[in-house]
Amino acid sequence: MPTETVYGLAADATLDDAVRRIFATKGRPATHPVIVHIPSVEHLDHWSRDVPDTARLLGTECWPGPLTVVVPRADTVSDLVTGGRDTVGLRVPAHPLTLELLARHGGGLAAPSANRFGRVSPTTARHVLDDLGDMVDYVLDGGPSSVGVESTIVDCTCDPPQVLRHGGLPAEQIGRILGGELAEPSGPSRAPGMLASHYAPSCEVEVVADDATAQRRAHLLRAAGRNVTVLGSDDDVVRYARELYTRFREAESTRVDVIVAVAPAPEGLGHAIRDRLAKASAPRP
Ligand code: TXA
Ligand code: MG
Repeated sequence: MPTETVYGLAADATLDDAVRRIFATKGRPATHPVIVHIPSVEHLDHWSRDVPDTARLLGTECWPGPLTVVVPRADTVSDLVTGGRDTVGLRVPAHPLTLELLARHGGGLAAPSANRFGRVSPTTARHVLDDLGDMVDYVLDGGPSSVGVESTIVDCTCDPPQVLRHGGLPAEQIGRILGGELAEPSGPSRAPGMLASHYAPSCEVEVVADDATAQRRAHLLRAAGRNVTVLGSDDDVVRYARELYTRFREAESTRVDVIVAVAPAPEGLGHAIRDRLAKASAPRP
């Protein structure tokens, strides 16, 4: 299913066999929790036994939108969805087709990004077909994702809430709504599945500080006979995020050896882009 962030591989969150198929299709470890997509903020209480005020406020202000809240789970939520944890991640995605799907379904759809485990997240229906092809029953084509990076994940079970993953909703905006600071993740592996090297295209990725450095580096690499592409050489951070994963995929299919990517300023969507670039350039397992 399409969302404003990336395409999701969806299954009814109450059907264990269906959720198992998500893990099998992605090749993803069963201990990683998946986000449950719900039709509206009113559904929070169905999935959480005790909705924190911060989660209710964020849901009311930001949904539908690129935000996932982690809250105490209700007893009925399957261990497969939560990875055996006492919390569940919930979000209302901002895509008309998927909102209609959720409204008609009336329940919750568990959905990780619709890519093979460890690969680049899909932002078009074509990406999904390229990755998962006949392993999925249907692809709902909702056009290219408008945000292009995954949702921001906020753990609302702690005080102050922690940003577990930077994403499509800037942390500054969330902090303003909560009227205070957000904490960076701490404690043992708060969000399992966020491995150092996770959003990796098959080519090398080098992250540099500015345009001039990117051009110099590209020149040197090309002189050494390598096929190079430069990313992010303009100031439009919204477009940078929207096109990031498509650029990664294009680089793979055109046999680029090295992507030289300019890191945007650490503000707004820049946090999420920097995080994905850091992961894409990390040493591969
Ligand atoms: O934008 C998105 O969030 C997309 C679209 C499809 O909604 N989904 C997505 O799902 O990125 P996925 O599975 O690729 O990443 C979900 C992340 C995982 O790293 C997982 O560890 C974390 O969310 N997560 C889910 N439930 C959690 C929980 N209860 N506690 C901590 N982390 C959780
Ligand atoms: Mg993913």
